[in-house]
Parts: sequence; structure tokens; C-alpha cells
Amino acid sequence: MKIAILPDETTIAATAADLVSEVFAAHPEAVFGLATGSSPLALYRELIARYQAGEISFAQSTSFNLDEYVSIEADHPQRYRNFISDQFTSHVDFNPAAVHGPDGNAADLEQECARYEAAIERAGGIDVQILGIGSDGHIAFNEPGESFASRTHVGVLTEQTRRDNARFFDGQLDRVPTHCLTQGLGTIMEARRIVLIAQGSGKARAVKELVEGAVSAKWPATILQMHPDAWILIDEAAGAGLELADYYREVWEKTHHA
Ligand code: GLP
Repeated sequence: MKIAILPDETTIAATAADLVSEVFAAHPEAVFGLATGSSPLALYRELIARYQAGEISFAQSTSFNLDEYVSIEADHPQRYRNFISDQFTSHVDFNPAAVHGPDGNAADLEQECARYEAAIERAGGIDVQILGIGSDGHIAFNEPGESFASRTHVGVLTEQTRRDNARFFDGQLDRVPTHCLTQGLGTIMEARRIVLIAQGSGKARAVKELVEGAVSAKWPATILQMHPDAWILIDEAAGAGLELADYYREVWEKTHHA
């Protein structure tokens, strides 16, 4: 993993946007994996600014969302297909037909998961995948105990995740859906490049496990230790628990920041 402990949200967003831009500069038709949550919002704003400045285009790209709530109102702003459109894809030159997300309101959820996996495969797989991390170590909605080999599946959210996300549902826990559709850990691990963003002290424990913990289904994000091109972009607060923080800073300065 490449670990960058960066001073603020703006620097994290610019660094993440550079990693995305590098992929699109080489392959304008790159397949883009999109994450929800608050962590990638500054990145999306930066990519919109770069698009407006004529520095990047998504006209030839295809995108795939990581996950979705099951049984959420069609027009709810937290329905992830609405969220991704509102926060990012509708502000750039994505072809709306090329923007994909699993449908958590499908009549047959198992069939929808299989359809979604096949669509990712048909697109040639994901070239660059954005990730956040849950305070319980989840990526996408792969909660503790999930198989490292899992594909897109129906999942059950932990109480912790539902509490964390209640802020997006007027603070009311009982309004947060209990189930989700999510790309599996096996699906995510096939992305060619992964850019994970984590900020704030609430993520410190999960980041410590992600970077320095044993690879374990208890902390699903730890599987990223096995990925050949995973970039972990964090702020000081999220990195506060890292034992080898000084070493990671030295490596980053000497290799990526000269
Ligand atoms: C949700 C999403 C995850 C995201 C996580 C963190 O549960 N399914 O993909 O990484 O929240 O959210 P935030 O970035 O708001 O902390």
C-alpha cells in the first residue's frame, strides 16, 4: 500500500484527483468505480473543477457505484444512485446511460446482484475505484465477517454502520435501511487501482487496522494489504493511531512528493 498522511481535505482531494487523472490520461475510456459517503465529496468537487477547466473528460467512461440501500424511497437523496448523480456524475460529461449502480429496489435482489457483476465484467472491470472506510472497517458495505472472495451480494448492515449513517436520515436510526446490495470484497480487489480516503478521528481505529493490523475478516478493509496498487490517503486525525507514521511520511516524501 502507498500511505499518504496529508495536512487537509484539499490536499487529499488534489492527490486523489491526480491518481484518477493519471488513469484517465492513459485511458479516456477508463471504468470508474464510485463511492458514496462524505469522504470522497471534496474529490468529486475537484474532479468537477478539473472537468470545467478542460483538464479531464468522462465522456468515454463508464461508472459503477459500490453499493446501495435496499428498499429506500426512489427519490431519497441518500439512495446512492441519486447521491452519485447529485454529487458528481451529473456535473461532468458522463453519458447518463454509462452511469451504473445496483438497484436496491429490484424485485429479485439475487438476480440484480448477478446482473451487476456481469455488467462490471462486460465493461472490462474497474480501472480506478474510490473507497471510503466505515468506522467498523467496512469497505463498500462489506461488514465484519464478510468473505474476502465475495462478489456483489445482499448484505445486512451492522448497528454501528446504521448509527454512523443515521445523520443522513434526520438522525433517526429506524429510518436507516437494514439491508444493502454491495460489491463484494472479491469484486473490489479486482479493480486495477484503488484510492481510499479517510478523514477524522472517528476513522483512526479502522485506519490503524487497515494499515497495520492482521489481515482478518473482522476488519474487512485489511484485504487491501493484498492489493498491488492501493493508495491510502488520510489526514492526521485518521492516522493518529499509526505506529509507523513517521516512516510512512518519509516514504511518501521520498517517492511521491519530490
Ligand atoms: C457508507 C458507504 C461506504 C463509505 C462509508 C463511510 O457506509 N457504504 O462506502 O465508505 O459509509 O462514510 P463516510 O465517508 O461518510 O464516513
